Amino acid sequence: MFPTSKIKPPGNGSLFLWMLLLCIPVINAQDSLLINTYNRPSTSLNGVWNYIVDPYENGFYNYRLEAFEDQEDPGQNAFFTNAKPSSPSDLIEYDFDLADSLLVPGDWNTQKEKLFYYEGSLWYKTSFDYTPANLTNRTFLYFGAVNYQADVYLNGQKLGKHIGGFTPFNFEITQILRPRDNFLILKVDNKRVKDGVPTLNTDWWNYGGLTREVKLIETTATFIADYFLYLDAANLEQIKGYVQLNGPASGNHPLRLQIPELSVDTTFFTNNLGRTEITFTSENMAYWSVEDPKRYQVSFSSREDQLTDQIGFRSISTREDDILLNGEPVFLKGISIHEESPVRGGRGNSMEDARQLLSWAKELGCNFVRLAHYPHNEHMVRLADEMGMLVWEENPVYWTISWDNPETYALAANQLTELIARDKNRACVIIWSMANETPTSEPRTEFLSKLAALARTKDPSRLISAALEQSAYQGESNVRTIHDAFAEVVDILSFNQYIGWYDGLPEKAQNISWVIEQNKPVLISEFGGGAKQGLHGDKNTRWTEEYQEYLYEESLKMLSSIKGLRGMSPWILVDFRSPRRMLPKIQDGWNRKGLISDDGKKKKAFFVLQQFYNSKD
Ligand code: GCU
Repeated sequence: MFPTSKIKPPGNGSLFLWMLLLCIPVINAQDSLLINTYNRPSTSLNGVWNYIVDPYENGFYNYRLEAFEDQEDPGQNAFFTNAKPSSPSDLIEYDFDLADSLLVPGDWNTQKEKLFYYEGSLWYKTSFDYTPANLTNRTFLYFGAVNYQADVYLNGQKLGKHIGGFTPFNFEITQILRPRDNFLILKVDNKRVKDGVPTLNTDWWNYGGLTREVKLIETTATFIADYFLYLDAANLEQIKGYVQLNGPASGNHPLRLQIPELSVDTTFFTNNLGRTEITFTSENMAYWSVEDPKRYQVSFSSREDQLTDQIGFRSISTREDDILLNGEPVFLKGISIHEESPVRGGRGNSMEDARQLLSWAKELGCNFVRLAHYPHNEHMVRLADEMGMLVWEENPVYWTISWDNPETYALAANQLTELIARDKNRACVIIWSMANETPTSEPRTEFLSKLAALARTKDPSRLISAALEQSAYQGESNVRTIHDAFAEVVDILSFNQYIGWYDGLPEKAQNISWVIEQNKPVLISEFGGGAKQGLHGDKNTRWTEEYQEYLYEESLKMLSSIKGLRGMSPWILVDFRSPRRMLPKIQDGWNRKGLISDDGKKKKAFFVLQQFYNSKD
């Protein structure tokens, strides 16, 4: 199950914790995740939804704080019943249809001034009529993401709940659906919690709401639920993978795989669990690459169902301190990006948002983006796949979370599982990052090592990393190194460093040297400094564009001295909102480390990095 060579269970009492972590069930009631919803027949539920702000969760609990949904008869006060007075003397103290509205997808913070800082529960409601195209079909309700905890009800029935603000989930509603007046109600709670993933403090805005698309997906009774195809790094003519069917007839079922451009047309048979392993060879494959992001039209057909996808085949691996793409060394010319819309502001969620961000990255000379610190929307990854942009995706295990809490681990494991499920067929994604800037300790390293093992089990075809922290080498402050047990587990040694911003002035970089003892590729996952666009002055005056420019010049020189340097993703492409950044007239709620301002203007440092990347072969 896990590559024992990498992970050694400790000899002490925490063996119990280790064993416990191995078997904690995932905390949500959803059905197995439907993948490739891009190419499945669907009906959008996006649009204008009604909402009720409920800081006291009055629609969820009675005054004794007992959850209505746990009552035999929840009664009309339960908001998920969408109750209406049946006579003038009836007492009902809420009415969704008379309530204000919000756009879905979208965060509530940037849609309503009064909700800008709101963290708590908010109810959403929409109504719809729906008749399946075929009455034997099944129907699923799919959410691209809801931040943070979603309790979902349809026609007064609880479908389930999902925790985690950045990954998709779905529920089967075939039995609950009716032709007319379905009412879908969610309680969305974006309260930050200590044992959550992420935990209480982050350096990004805690946008709440139905932040990504909502849709109905229709399938045949037995359908193609999941599949994975990837190039075998050990044999570049071999494609491996599997297909999983879902439904009463999924056992011993013929599954036809066709890739016309590769003259592949093979039929596999599922086992009695509805799964078939896939292996076939193809001599004349064009590998997906940055220069030529070739994706093949792939179609899967079962007796009833048919599904197509656009899949690129490429191998990604390391050899000592080299990163190999299709067997050739590659340098990752990257930039870090937060999922904020450069067009509207607020949480990004559209193809338009993705296109703006990735076009700026391309203009910067990038072949790589670090999507920080959580899974971004699928548009971003699908577009990167099309554009030939390599991608780092990250699980929101950020700073100091509750390493010893099995529930916290289950939350992290579930979000990672959902991320890998959604994006595993995207050739552009080359790195799964387990975490960012987490304090070294044994429970932390066990936690992260467990996640890394889970990722390798789910996907043997990609590299594992995490944004680690650097420290002084043997007490020598001008000699920096990576002293971290988790550095033994990762494939790529990535770390953040802020010499010249949080640590001294830019010139300090001139006296810094690095001792990297791990014989692995090095990627600088963050460096940078703040600048208010349009503010000018001498190069040692904080917040001026000249300071940021000078910092980039010195940092690039310093980092280029690292022998195994094979990539970087400076912090960050665009200024972004953060509740931790309050300096008036400079920050005003924005982290100003962007190379582009929040209104799309490039700062001087943008051109320093652009020149550096364009000078790199
Ligand atoms: C950290 C962190 C980022 C943060 C950045 C900063 O390294 O990973 O999330 O925004 O530094 O301080 O600007």
